[in-house]
Amino acid sequence: MNIVMIGTGYVGLTSGLGFAGLGNRVACVDTDSTKIAKLDLGQTPFFEPGLEEQLKAMQESGQIVFTTELESVIDGAQVLMIAVQTPPKTNGQADLTYLDSAAEQIGRLLNHESLIVVKSTVPVGTNRHILKIIRDELTKRGKDDLVSLIRVASVPEFLREGSALQDFLAPDRVVIGADDEITFRTVEQMHEGIKSIFLRTSIESAELIKVASNAFLATKISFINEIANIVERTGADVREIARGVGLDKRIGPLFLRSGIGFGGSCFPKDVAALKSYAGINGYDFRLLNAVIEVNNRQRELFFKKIVSILGTLKGRKIGVWGLSFKPDTDDIRESAAIDIVQRLVGAGADVSVFDPKAMQNAARVLPNSVVYTTTPIDAASGAEALIVLTEWPEFRGVSFETLKSSMIEPIIFDGRNALADLDLERIGFSYFGVGLCDSHKS
Ligand code: UGA
Repeated sequence: MNIVMIGTGYVGLTSGLGFAGLGNRVACVDTDSTKIAKLDLGQTPFFEPGLEEQLKAMQESGQIVFTTELESVIDGAQVLMIAVQTPPKTNGQADLTYLDSAAEQIGRLLNHESLIVVKSTVPVGTNRHILKIIRDELTKRGKDDLVSLIRVASVPEFLREGSALQDFLAPDRVVIGADDEITFRTVEQMHEGIKSIFLRTSIESAELIKVASNAFLATKISFINEIANIVERTGADVREIARGVGLDKRIGPLFLRSGIGFGGSCFPKDVAALKSYAGINGYDFRLLNAVIEVNNRQRELFFKKIVSILGTLKGRKIGVWGLSFKPDTDDIRESAAIDIVQRLVGAGADVSVFDPKAMQNAARVLPNSVVYTTTPIDAASGAEALIVLTEWPEFRGVSFETLKSSMIEPIIFDGRNALADLDLERIGFSYFGVGLCDSHKS
């Protein structure tokens, strides 16, 4: 099929490349000419495993093209997908400015029957609002015959950063929110080659499934973090509890890793958006208030733990491993790691950091005093404590003997329990994780 993807952000680019890989012909459109020029050269604007390879392969096979001009690719498009950003406004609601302007542009340029697929995460009612904008523009142009031939579908995205291409090819489900059989079939056809459950729903249900899924996963994380906090006061090991609880099929083992809480461009935004959507509709979604509160408190508690053990941080040298909001990405949006580094610097510590991918992005937001190093050992060298904030797998492969001899004090605070099973106390480290009562008491 011929697909036009509007927006080459995280969702637009990865799913555009995914659809191209399935044999569709995809034209990606973005107003950012620098980004399009980079993509044309085969360079991705952010790090995601396998994405650059997929980009090169799709460009070579001619399955994907990039442009800033929607008018150059809109004719002949059977499906117009919108994947522009919907950032949070200060009141927690999603800002639909980019979406509205994409819809207006489509309405101004479209001359043939087409299906509009919205991939952006949006509040309930947005798909119909988008359809109205496009139809109004068509009416303004005197294209009344086209108005009833434009349909809309909500096909939310469930990709995780760090494993996006894999998630695209093997999704747990593909949710399609639409009004009619032709639309359902067209969307299914676009996904031909993907084996999954194709769930047909109303447009409104599809819109809500997306935010409800993210809010539920965020709730699981805040829940296990609360358990971790009790454990620290009472004894036991949160990892064992998560395993024991997660073996219950009704609960499941995933998203029960405790630590400094969730970040990224999705969970914080979507939880806030769902809470705000409930509020606008006269409902106080109390559970989500607690999810947000617990998540914020998690960073606070971890920082307090560091201070309670080290004492004043003024002038103390601290090494940090990890800045991205999760491993395998250079994304630092709403990263708990960034928040903790800011607190450390705010308390007067001399901070040296290492992250395999996110240091360039971090340097744009962190104070100038932060020192960026080229290896994990360099970040910890001469430090009185090492703080692990993102669980990059390579950190586990470091020589901990070398690490120990390079530090002034062999103390590790692990905000992700990433090194908890390495028994670092055995080689002389004092190790403090989250919800690991025994180590905390050491
Ligand atoms: C999330 C969802 O998992 C995707 O399904 C969804 O498509 C995406 O948002 C989106 O809406 O676009 P993502 O934000 O990429 O994906 O990353 P996750 O793997 O969900 O992690 C989010 C945060 O939760 C990270 O900060 C991670 O460290 C934290 N987390 C995750 C935990 O603290 N504990 C866990 O057990 C799991």
